[in-house]
Amino acid sequence: MNSVLFVCLGNICRSPLAEAALRAEAERLRLDLTIESAGTGDWHVGEPPDPRAQAVAARHGLDISAYQTRQVTPADFRRFTHIVALDHDNLSNLRRIAPADATAALSLLLDHVPGREGQAVTDPWFGDAAGFDVTWAEVTAAAAGLAGRLTDPNPRPVATA
Ligand code: 4NP
Repeated sequence: MNSVLFVCLGNICRSPLAEAALRAEAERLRLDLTIESAGTGDWHVGEPPDPRAQAVAARHGLDISAYQTRQVTPADFRRFTHIVALDHDNLSNLRRIAPADATAALSLLLDHVPGREGQAVTDPWFGDAAGFDVTWAEVTAAAAGLAGRLTDPNPRPVATA
C-alpha cells in the first residue's frame, strides 16, 4: 500500500496543510493511503498546527486542530513509500539524514503539479494570513497530482527523484 509523509521545517504550517489536502483527496477518491506529516526541526514537537493553518483548513471544511507536530525519523524512510518535501532545504535535509537502507521515494511537493516541477512552497509562517491561502492552493493542486500519480498504473517519473 502506498504511504505518503509530507515534510517541512516546523510541521506547523505547510506539511499539515499538505497532509489535510491529500487526506481529503484520498477520501474523495476512496484511496487506501497512509498519510502523515513531520518537520525536520523539533521546535514545535507536540504542538497543534499554527492557528492560521488551522483557520485556512477550517475555511475549506477540514479540522486539523488535533494534528500534533512531530520530527521526521530515520524509520520514516522505510515506513513510507513516498516522502514529499515542501521546499529545497527540506529536501536536502532529508537527503542528509536518510539512512543507507531508505526505500522511500523523495520528491518536492510541487513536482506533483504540472508546470511547477522543481519549485518550492514558500513558507507562510513569516508572512500574513494571505500567504496561507497561497499555500492551500498549492497543496490542494499537489494533492490532486499526487493522487493521480499513485493511482496511475504507468506513472511518469518525478523530476526531483
Ligand atoms: P513550516 O513553517 O515549516 O511550514 O511549518 C515554519 C514554522 C515554524 C518555524 C519555521 C517554519 N520556526 O522557525 O519555528
